[in-house]
Amino acid sequence: MSKYRSSKSSIYIDGTDVPKNKLGIENTQDIHEVENILLEEAYAKLSSSLNTKTILDETYFINLHKKTFESLYDFAGVYRDVNMSKGESQFCLAQYLRSESKRIFTELEKDKYLQDVASDKTTFAKKLAYYQGELIALHPFYELNGRITRLYVDMLAMVHGYKPIDYSGAIENGAYIDASIACVQYADASLLESILFCGLSRFDIVN
Ligand SMILES: Nc1ncnc2c1ncn2[C@@H]1O[C@H](COP(=O)(O)OP(=O)(O)OP(=O)(O)O)[C@@H](O)[C@H]1O
Ligand SMILES: [Mg+2]
Repeated sequence: MSKYRSSKSSIYIDGTDVPKNKLGIENTQDIHEVENILLEEAYAKLSSSLNTKTILDETYFINLHKKTFESLYDFAGVYRDVNMSKGESQFCLAQYLRSESKRIFTELEKDKYLQDVASDKTTFAKKLAYYQGELIALHPFYELNGRITRLYVDMLAMVHGYKPIDYSGAIENGAYIDASIACVQYADASLLESILFCGLSRFDIVN
């Protein structure tokens, strides 16, 4: 069964949580394996091409999803046109997705992609958590929102000299979901901020 309640979503193979895909995979374990390989390839490619001129705008964010998963899914890089919720959390309504996405990325551009606060880890974690929380609440794609949001935030951290964020079990033990719930339901990014503060470390400094 799909984890999502969605009135007309048909991205999943009937009766499974496996999205219809270009490789004809029908098994959960196999699809996760392929997704993980594609994600690892994306991390390798993106980290090596990242430089101070990289602009982490909305197009960059959408392209992370598109380029990483277009060999597997037709919905890669496509914003959903159905409403989605999980548990008690209602993500951004489909009709507001585009305008909300524009608002978030315009704000981030005005914030110079956090360039001015990056040297102060406390402020950086706070700002990063705010934007990550906004993207979690946006939940713009049919699937893979968590992984693409974390990939994007990792790029935002790396472009300012940090390592990819070490979530240290927060994803596995449910802390990341609790933090997501606080962001989506209460616009409260403080739990996420703590996770990010612990998980951020610089490439050049031994903590
Ligand atoms: N109950 C919830 N309330 C709010 N947000 C949630 C809830 N459950 C999950 N989320 C958010 O949705 C994301 C999962 O979305 P999706 O399934 O599209 O992506 P994924 O990449 O498959 O997930 P994952 O993060 O588990 O790897 C989570 O990472 C989390 O941020
Ligand atoms: Mg998922």
